[in-house]
This record gives sequence, C-alpha cells and structure tokens, in this order.
Amino acid sequence: MTSQTRRIRFVQPDLTNEDIQAVVAALRANHLGGNGAVGQRVQARLRGLVGTRHALLTTSCSHALEIAMMALDIGAGDEVIVPSFAFVTAASAIVRQGARPVFAEIDEFTFNLNPDDVARRITPRTRAVVCVHYAGQGCRMDELITLAREHDLYVVEDAAQAIGAGYGGRPLGTFGHAGCFSFHITKNIIAGEGGAFVTGDDDIARRAEIIREKGTNRSAFLRGEVDKYSWVDIGSSFVPSDLLAALLGSQLARLEEITQHRVELWYGYYEGMARLEETGLVIRPGLDPQAEINGHIYAFRVAPGIRDRVIEGLKARGIESTFHFVPLHSSPYAQKAFGCHRDDLPVTERVAASLIRLPLHTQLSMDDIEFILEQLEQVLKK
Ligand SMILES: Cc1ncc(COP(=O)(O)O)c(C=O)c1O
Repeated sequence: MTSQTRRIRFVQPDLTNEDIQAVVAALRANHLGGNGAVGQRVQARLRGLVGTRHALLTTSCSHALEIAMMALDIGAGDEVIVPSFAFVTAASAIVRQGARPVFAEIDEFTFNLNPDDVARRITPRTRAVVCVHYAGQGCRMDELITLAREHDLYVVEDAAQAIGAGYGGRPLGTFGHAGCFSFHITKNIIAGEGGAFVTGDDDIARRAEIIREKGTNRSAFLRGEVDKYSWVDIGSSFVPSDLLAALLGSQLARLEEITQHRVELWYGYYEGMARLEETGLVIRPGLDPQAEINGHIYAFRVAPGIRDRVIEGLKARGIESTFHFVPLHSSPYAQKAFGCHRDDLPVTERVAASLIRLPLHTQLSMDDIEFILEQLEQVLKK
C-alpha cells in the first residue's frame, strides 16, 4: 500500500457484535431508563474493575466532575487548584459552584499536574485539588495526597482518560476523595457518551447518589429503604440510560484485551521514536516509573514553530494527528472572569504549543505504527 492510499484515522471505536447484541438485549428487556438491572450490574462490574467501594454511572465525566464539586460542597469563596492543561469541564465544574479555579503548571515531560507548583498556589481559601491523569498516565499521587493531607484539602481525580491504568500498583481514580471517568466515544472503553463517579467514602457516595438523581432519594426508594421519594438535596439529571450501560458493560468485559493492545501500540511509538529523539527533532513523552499506563494517548513534542506544519504534512500523507488542550488559563473566559494572563504559566504554554497526538486505537497494527513513524520522519526532515 502506498502512502497515498493508506488513510489512518486518529480514533476508531472498537465495537464488536457482542457490543451490539448487548444493546439489543437491553432494548428487549424494555427498561430504557437508567439505574435498572443492567445499569446496576455494570456499576458492580466497574466497582470490581476499579477496586472502589462505590461507583455510579453518569451521563459523562463532566457530570461526574460536577457531582464531585457538589458532593464536596465546593462553593463561593473557595479556591480549587486545577491544571490549566486540562479539558474545560475540570474547571467549569468548579466555576458552576461559584468557586474560583486556580490554574497550576504541569510537568514538562509527563504533562501531568506538578505537585511543587500546586504547593506554591495553596492559600487559606484552597479547598480542593483536581488532578488530571493525562493520556492515562498517573499523576505523582504520593506527593499530591501528602500535600492534600497536610493542608486538609480534597483531591478529585479527573480520570477521564485513565480507565484500566494504575500508579504504584493502585488503580487510578481510587487515590482521592472522588474519581471521575469518561466513556466518551474517544476513550479506551466507550458508551458513546457516558462516565462514572467513584469514591471510597460512604458519606460522599450517599450524597453523590442523591445529586445524580435530581437531588432526590429515589435510589433509596428503589432499594425499599423509604416508602416514597422526594427532594432532599441539590442535584441534577446525571443517570445514563440502561442502553448505554449495556454497551459499557460489554466494552468493560474487554478492558484488559483493549488496554493490552493499546499499550503495545503505545510502546511501538515510544521505542520507534527513540532514534528521532536523538536527532533532536522530537521529544518523547516522559514515563513515570511508578505509572502503569493504559495506552490512551500517544503525545509527543516538536518545536512549537513547526507543530502545525507537521500535522498538515501528516494529513497530506493520509495520517490524522492533532494538537490537544488549549490552556484554560489563556482561554477568553478565564481572562475575562479571572484576569488570567497568557504568560502566567509558561510550561503549560510551551507544552500545549508543541504537542502532537498520533493515531491510537485497536484497529491499528504495529505495521501501521512503523508506517506512521516513517512518514513522520520524512515530514520532519523536509
Ligand atoms: C481529561 C478529560 N476530562 C474530562 C473530559 C470530559 O469527558 P466527557 O466527554 O465524558 O464529559 C475529557 C474528555 O475528553 C477529558 O479528556
């Protein structure tokens, strides 16, 4: 196949006949709403896979982050530290509560929240830290948890990209007071749209369950614990349909297989790029020795001035690649609402301007990875 005829998509869902059958079976079971038998079964499976006491399926990771902020009573006057190199809803979940996001730097090589910079930004108003496990690689959780304990802060893990990944032998999402996962179409395990809220804390779980059900005690009612359900707290509508839960359940059954395939491809890129790194044309991602990655994203860096040209060059050769987060502190909203300035976070700016993500999904082979790296080398040397 020539470079002209090969087209390599950036993401491709991994859907099987079993996935389709699972949704059809859920449709036939005639429970189209949420939190039914299927939803509860999948929640139990997720609890086991993540190794957490409580797991609630949600309509998205963004909603799981909102549940976290509500359940932890983050409110007006509070500050929450969050990386600027993050998806917008890690910050907007804070802002919706009337609290202020305080943007922190990432590590230049792992692209994860830098605990030293977090420490510098703690004030008497700080209530929580949100960490993002970028690309499915765990943040430096030992340091973050120690820091949080010293200052009596909550830790919320944005584990949107981190299903199946661990740090020092412990699954991501289980270090903090809450963990938030995404099963969006772009993730390793998909439900189309969807997410999960996990916690090891019984009180937080009780409150999150109510928040997820429009602020009512409907879940307790369904368990027969109360004779009718009513409005008991703040909340919104965050329960996904059992149809999506069915797809998620079927996907989760292949978590290990999908993760293993992706991790092999990830290392294919990483090892294949070593030679290019020696020439100084690329910087490979940094690997924390404690991190057990899940191969969610392969992101590397080039000189900022050539990044867009490289993406265009790959596109001309049939390969889809892309940049990632536009730093939140330099967004129009953060500048207007919080007076943030572009120069506030130089490491984040530098990383965001130089980062490229390459195709990574289970329909790729090692041969594809070699082809992509060959094409990349040609584009870079042009
Ligand atoms: C790090 C991170 N957090 C949160 C989200 C939001 O996930 P969802 O689309 O499930 O709301 C994403 C989605 O891309 C993400 O990458």
